Amino acid sequence: MPTSQLPEPDPESLARSRQLLERIHARIEEAGGWLPFDAYMQMALYEPGLGYYDAAGRKFGAAGDFVTAPEISPYFARAIATQVAQVFASTPAEVLEFGAGTGALAHELMHELERRGTPVRRYRIVEISADLRARQQERLAGLPVEWLDALPGAFSGVMLANEVLDVLPVRLFVRGADRVFERGVTWDPQRGQPVFAGRPADADLCREVAAIETALFPERLADPAAEGLPEGYGSEWCPLAAAWIAALGACLEHGVALLFDYGFPRREYYHPQRAMGTLMCHYRQRSHADPLWLPGLNDITAHVDFSACADAARNAGLDVLGYTSQARFLMNAGILDRMLADGARAQDAGAVQRLLSEAEMGELVKAFALGRGIDRPLLGFTNGDRRSRL
Ligand SMILES: C[S@@+](CC[C@H](N)C(=O)[O-])C[C@H]1O[C@@H](n2cnc3c(N)ncnc32)[C@H](O)[C@@H]1O
Repeated sequence: MPTSQLPEPDPESLARSRQLLERIHARIEEAGGWLPFDAYMQMALYEPGLGYYDAAGRKFGAAGDFVTAPEISPYFARAIATQVAQVFASTPAEVLEFGAGTGALAHELMHELERRGTPVRRYRIVEISADLRARQQERLAGLPVEWLDALPGAFSGVMLANEVLDVLPVRLFVRGADRVFERGVTWDPQRGQPVFAGRPADADLCREVAAIETALFPERLADPAAEGLPEGYGSEWCPLAAAWIAALGACLEHGVALLFDYGFPRREYYHPQRAMGTLMCHYRQRSHADPLWLPGLNDITAHVDFSACADAARNAGLDVLGYTSQARFLMNAGILDRMLADGARAQDAGAVQRLLSEAEMGELVKAFALGRGIDRPLLGFTNGDRRSRL
């Protein structure tokens, strides 16, 4: 939707966005007039007190900007509990959740595991947003939860992250005729706001685009002049995703990391027809494509390249234990049986339908499991495991 058709923010939010714009302007000047997009996205989402995730604001749910699976239905957490309980049979009963949002998943998961007689002994949350950490502390008051500022030195049990990889800052590239460009931002003094500007890509970005082109067009291995991505093709690369998975790998001693996110294998992600990438903004339940509009008031996301994540996991010595659609995972984990057993109401069925529907989250969101020291197949990936496509 064009941003001109989006509802106006309230004066307080607008003032906060203007303050953030001033800081972005200063940062662009400090950097010599041009900032790579990942540095801009980092500020727009995480600048202390002003970035989208760090500032106060509704963000989640029907009255916010977007909804996530744990907010749509408690059956998401109830199905995940089946998988967590299976892992707990051979690991300490501990959970480490990243980016817990409002705490909805933690809340329901802890209650469900208690109900099943496999309670969590320790639940820890790594959350970088001060605002969300405060909300989680309110929601989870009275439950045995601890908040950490960084990963612990070592961890055994289940790591969880729902829609965290898709909010890590990304670099933007455009394929030119004979070189690759990086899209970043510069300051437009006339309009008093950042605007996009390209520069020749540095060696890291060129190497990554070459790796993407070789994965898509293997004939380039023998002949670097063979067909690659079309001229003008633009997309993203998330260097932080591999770094984040490497950090999980360094920390996970025994157990499983279960990640849910929008994304594809590399060959689908960078399909020549997806010529404008996957960068998307969310504002009051509407999607738009302009990440420079009112920074700090919009969520900015990009899909996940799960092939790159699988490579990073293997490099970190982790096993890739499963990759499937969210719908498959939830069905394998018995979401429908659990609803039947509860005598779930029509309203619950409608919400679960959103989680399972191929046209919504069911297919676009993937479940991805990494692990160390786990020798039994994971229940959530019993049918429809797509690891071979990564
Ligand atoms: C789209 S929200 C998803 C929230 C929640 N998991 C859910 O499904 O409702 C992204 C969350 O990840 C957090 N986050 C972003 N980067 C992070 C990081 N590097 N480590 C931990 N949390 C992070 C955000 O603050 C936010 O809580």
